[in-house]
Amino acid sequence: MRERTTDVMENGFAAHVLVCTTDRDGDYACCADASGDAVADAVRAWLRDRGVFWSRVHVAETSCLGLCSENGTAVAIQPRNEWYSDVRPADVPDLLAAAFGPDAERVADTA
Ligand code: FES
Repeated sequence: MRERTTDVMENGFAAHVLVCTTDRDGDYACCADASGDAVADAVRAWLRDRGVFWSRVHVAETSCLGLCSENGTAVAIQPRNEWYSDVRPADVPDLLAAAFGPDAERVADTA
């Protein structure tokens, strides 16, 4: 095991956008059935369109964030401690513009 905290911080890490894409069988809603993959694609596309996909913001598909809904996907932006549920692909531009600025000009802001 290698401890890499210093490396990550020196590389300018500012935020992780975590998108739940959990799929499961059962009676409970899951993000895979509520556009999880499409929301993750929309997040990556928004960042790519602004030239900041490989930048100080990282994107990760994740397991359950505890905000399961049949109406949309759960998204968290860490370490800002911002949480969203019921996110649809069409919501992603407004969500990311609010977090990082319309042209991602605040992508390097820290919490
Ligand atoms: S399955 Fe996505 S938040 Fe629970």
